[in-house]
Amino acid sequence: EWSMEAYRQAKIRDIQDQVGSGKVICGLSGGVDSAVAAVLIHEAIGEQLTCVFVDHGLMRQGEADQVVSLFRNHYNIPLVHVEAETLFLSGLAGVADPEAKRKFIGKTFIDVFEDEARKIGGADFLAQGTLYPDVIESVSFTGGPSVTIKSHHNVGGLPERMNMKLVEPLRELFKDEVRELGRELGLPDAFVGRHPFPGPGLAIRIPGEVSKERCDILRKADAIYLEEIRNAGLYDAIWQAFAVLLPVRTVGVMGDARTYDSVCALRAVTSVDGMTADVYPFSADFLSRTATRIVNEVQGINRVTYDYTSKPPGTIEWE
Ligand code: XMP
Repeated sequence: EWSMEAYRQAKIRDIQDQVGSGKVICGLSGGVDSAVAAVLIHEAIGEQLTCVFVDHGLMRQGEADQVVSLFRNHYNIPLVHVEAETLFLSGLAGVADPEAKRKFIGKTFIDVFEDEARKIGGADFLAQGTLYPDVIESVSFTGGPSVTIKSHHNVGGLPERMNMKLVEPLRELFKDEVRELGRELGLPDAFVGRHPFPGPGLAIRIPGEVSKERCDILRKADAIYLEEIRNAGLYDAIWQAFAVLLPVRTVGVMGDARTYDSVCALRAVTSVDGMTADVYPFSADFLSRTATRIVNEVQGINRVTYDYTSKPPGTIEWE
């Protein structure tokens, strides 16, 4: 009889068999998948695991702190926290093309990660939170010839370069099963239930050039939007919800002054695996309340729109 508890025990034995007395390094992205993989592997092999969190400064508000405190305080799992915001943002200056952003972020991520791996004397295995949909999506997209819609960043190429084998304990699982396993492992509900977040982070939610200032503006708007969604009790009914900061300025009026500021677009979709998605049908009341708060509370934004495009033909992210 199948149960998550039995699955957990079986996976722990698999990891122990595969790894033996070897050293494992795991890159945390800040998301649920890599965190669940890390906690499971830590349960299996303890000190043989080193977790590295490359903080590119492109996370949502408060997110980096939550990951660090989850590992260090809640689990007492040693964690290398690399603060690399300046490195990432300076390299992104002048880069506007979506794939160029992904490429730079992916490459820089690997460079930083590789440095950290060297500092701890290398490792025999690289742990990744690869899920079943990632396994299929990387094989073919629609059953036809494989087409790259967006290159998803991971640490591809690194295992070969550093001569590491992969440990991927979540390869058979779908997202909802990973969440169940996470709960089974004692991860806090609020963490396990988090919406998926792309590796390149806010960089692909700021069409055009990214800067620290634009990231800060977007973080504020995004936090207000998510707070309103949580207050309305809608967070768990939505697959992903986020704000996008557009490279367009429009005219507005605040008090008796004219404003000329950025437009923010809100996105929310339902989905099973991210491959197709439907727009979440918020009430007009919810949208106007959220738009008003964002314009009133976030300096730099004076107009809010709601994205009504399903996937396909749209993608979930704007870049
Ligand atoms: P799209 O925008 O392609 O997104 O409909 C489908 C799912 O994938 C996430 N996504 C990414 N995840 N690196 C990631 O790790 C990326 O470059 C990337 N691009 C999109 C997106 O958030 C959604 O969940």
